[in-house]
Amino acid sequence: MTTTEHPNAGPDITGASIRLEQVRKQYKGQGEPAVADLDLDIAAGEIVAFVGPSGCGKTTTLKMINRLVEPTNGRIYIGDRDVTHENPDELRQSIGYVIQSGGLFPHWTVERNVGAIPRVLGWNKAKIAERTTDLLRLVGLDPDEFGKRLPKDMSGGQQQRVGVARALAADPPVLLMDEPFSAVDPITRVRLQDSLIDIQKKVGKTIVIVTHDFEEATKLGDRVVIFSRGGHIEQYGTPAEILANPANDFVREFIGSGATLAQLSLTRVKDVELEQVTTALVDEPSDRVIDRARAAKTSWVVVVDDKKQPRAWPSVDEIATAPTVSSYIDARLPLVAPSSTLQDALDVMLAASQGGALVTDRTGGLIGWLRISRVIDIIRTQLDEAQPDEVGYAEFAEAEADNGGPNTGELNPDGLGTGGPDTGGDRS
Ligand SMILES: Nc1ncnc2c1ncn2[C@@H]1O[C@H](COP(=O)(O)OP(=O)(O)O)[C@@H](O)[C@H]1O
Ligand SMILES: [Mg+2]
Repeated sequence: MTTTEHPNAGPDITGASIRLEQVRKQYKGQGEPAVADLDLDIAAGEIVAFVGPSGCGKTTTLKMINRLVEPTNGRIYIGDRDVTHENPDELRQSIGYVIQSGGLFPHWTVERNVGAIPRVLGWNKAKIAERTTDLLRLVGLDPDEFGKRLPKDMSGGQQQRVGVARALAADPPVLLMDEPFSAVDPITRVRLQDSLIDIQKKVGKTIVIVTHDFEEATKLGDRVVIFSRGGHIEQYGTPAEILANPANDFVREFIGSGATLAQLSLTRVKDVELEQVTTALVDEPSDRVIDRARAAKTSWVVVVDDKKQPRAWPSVDEIATAPTVSSYIDARLPLVAPSSTLQDALDVMLAASQGGALVTDRTGGLIGWLRISRVIDIIRTQLDEAQPDEVGYAEFAEAEADNGGPNTGELNPDGLGTGGPDTGGDRS
């Protein structure tokens, strides 16, 4: 039915391996070391996610890789280079670093922020300008629209995209990210995660990302490291391995009761057959759109622009209130990418109070939609496979009946029924 192949497979690898040997950090005045005798090998071109409870040493470990924190002991290699003896300033110019709030210089334009390290490295102006344009496009920002803006005139999600562009500016083999998406709203977070997967497919760097969210770790990580206190590795493996075979009680407890549902984060939107959508163009005569919708036996359409990017998701009744299709842009459309997990899709549907999500490709063009009942069917199958005796059809059938039964007939996109998208918030 579905596959669990990781979407990060197959980039041209430009990243370098990272190796930690007996690395230790003892902060002054602390009784126990923050990180004790850590050995870790990270393969070139992989995304490795660090997770674990607060204070277990994730940030300390990350910062020892670029020597924002000096190790008390041990060696760290990037590729063949022992970086523990390199000049820390030069080292940091060759390692991208992204933190929670983007960490942009607030009084600098986006262009100036992205070009910061190339300028230090003495690149000429033309090369910096070209690189900046390319990178803004790569992270999904229009260089003409955003190049001259200040960070304060952008959403948190957009600032975070600039942060990623800046970190990639000097083409570093390694990108370190410390909870980069934890300060944005759930819909923006899903988009930023999908963007990162997409970017990684193109650039093939080695990425180490710290997160406190196990689902985020399983979505982004080719491999996941689960840490306990003192930077102790409890398990290091692929998300599928960890979910199928938690190494010990600590891991089982950390993954928690959501372990079965976490399987949902292994199933991607691209693994599910999507349904076709009837589309309409701005200014198109409404009669024509309504005829088309009737022929397709649907009560709603998606308004798209000339690049097939969705603008709004009106019902046929709404279309009928005007002679031509309105140019209205709905900023809260539930959008997911093929690399989004089913868990993301559910989150996005619920956050937007919609009975489905629109699926767009990497250029933002509409490729279909996924209805909530399809996701529920898959959850039901996975639950039955995972624990046939604990949760069966009966319980789900009951839950479904309470919800008004998403499987009965066609589901209006407003099917969850709070009157459509309404909440404001951070946009990516
Ligand atoms: N600059 C510092 N000085 C002293 N102790 C620190 C410092 N930074 C972190 N610690 C301590 O080191 C341990 C690990 O912290 P940290 O690496 O930030 O964990 P995590 O990122 O997993 O939450 C914690 O006990 C924390 O209090
Ligand atoms: Mg931390």
